[in-house]
Amino acid sequence: MTMAEHMPTHLILLAAGEGTRMQSDLPKVLHEVAGAPLFQHALQSAASLDGRRVIVVGHGAEEVTRAAKLVDPDILIAEQTEQLGTAHAVVQTASALDGAGGDTAILFGDTPFIKPDTLEKMSAMRGQDADIVFLGFEARDPGRYGRLITDGDTLLRIVEFKDATEEERAITLCNSGVILADTETLLRLSAAVGNDNAAGEYYLTDIVQLAATEGLVTKVVTCPEAETLGINTRSDLAEAERVFQESARAKALDNGITLQAADTVYFSFDTEVGRDATIEPYVVFGPGVTVESGARIRAFSHLEGAHVGSDAVVGPYARLRPGAELSNATRVGNFVEIKNARIGDGTKVNHLSYVGDATIGERTNIGAGVITCNYDGVFKHQTEIGNDVFIGSNTMLVAPVSVGDEAMTATGGVITKDVPPGDLALARAPQVNKTGLARKLFQRLRAAKAAKKGG
Ligand code: UD1
Ligand code: MG
Repeated sequence: MTMAEHMPTHLILLAAGEGTRMQSDLPKVLHEVAGAPLFQHALQSAASLDGRRVIVVGHGAEEVTRAAKLVDPDILIAEQTEQLGTAHAVVQTASALDGAGGDTAILFGDTPFIKPDTLEKMSAMRGQDADIVFLGFEARDPGRYGRLITDGDTLLRIVEFKDATEEERAITLCNSGVILADTETLLRLSAAVGNDNAAGEYYLTDIVQLAATEGLVTKVVTCPEAETLGINTRSDLAEAERVFQESARAKALDNGITLQAADTVYFSFDTEVGRDATIEPYVVFGPGVTVESGARIRAFSHLEGAHVGSDAVVGPYARLRPGAELSNATRVGNFVEIKNARIGDGTKVNHLSYVGDATIGERTNIGAGVITCNYDGVFKHQTEIGNDVFIGSNTMLVAPVSVGDEAMTATGGVITKDVPPGDLALARAPQVNKTGLARKLFQRLRAAKAAKKGG
């Protein structure tokens, strides 16, 4: 070879464990932080790795496999039918990584906050002649973590809590579980690990000593403890959510977004908000939302799978559901729900409306209480509304139906037929006034009431 060949770095995501302490029917790695399952956060941490991605599944294998394929269609699945330990889990990836070469990073599916920078540091250490790199951290309360026995930044061995002596338990430098190593070495040493220990498990951590006997070098890189937060209980999950939201709010503020009451705004893992947007109190972003610059999301609005154009105003109390596409300078007001609908530039839907499965043009006004009747009980149907249209208050648009440019519908209409451009659609019973009849009725009713009281 004339040039150094680029060696890929692969990923193994360990996710076969049961997660008993979650007290849940849902596999642990499918519990969500900021709208994304835990394993997806771990995949995100490793997004810059350029090799194969393998997830080891066991408990809830079918569900986890389905979810993993949804997030990453190319992910390779290694099934570990019995959870005999972390080394045993790695051995299950042998066929997925067959002939892969390069390096492999190991992450845990229940550890969502490892930073890409940290993996970079590990990679830099690998570059300095370390055959294996472990990620350690100084634990405030080392608890049941594996303890790192080191000499400088060289890792001599790892002792699991259950097997540790009193002196070893006093060590506060702990194993995060994240490893970067030469792929072939990692698989070979993992297969050589035995299970003669207090737990009777195949400990991945035992590869350190096996490496040493071959004269291979293992080093430690450290990161802040916050990154290594692993989820074992619902209370860990709540803490992870808190940590995520705190950091998402701080990032939003740094990026030039106004948050009037930052602590009350909830972001998703993928929320994108442009500069100079304003988010009022108590706004919740579900997955898949982008908000362009200058837009304002008013208080108590809930958005998911939606795009909000620049200078649009949404809410207060608006609900944008998946497929809501709001163009620039649109207005979507209080108690309005928009689903799978495109709203053109400058169009207003200000009060108490449902717009679903619809396309609305530019500068159109949708009156109060307008409903697109998009569902017939079996099928969904489309409503098409043009530019510069006026839809009168309380119009029911029975889809499939269209209203052409510059048309009007009169208030209270039930529109079942297409309205051509420029036409006015009147679709309600004509009004009849009965002279004096109301007064007569009142008199009769009041008399009846008085008679009842008397009797
Ligand atoms: C492991 C480490 C410990 C470290 C700690 C950090 C070992 C032996 N110990 O301990 O040094 O301080 O993580 O949190 O590696 N898993 C499988 N298959 C198995 C067993 C585990 O896929 O057979 C997965 C789990 O789903 C989990 C990860 O591996 O994502 C870690 O397993 P866990 O049982 O939590 O290991 P710990 O005892 O916490
Ligand atoms: Mg654990």
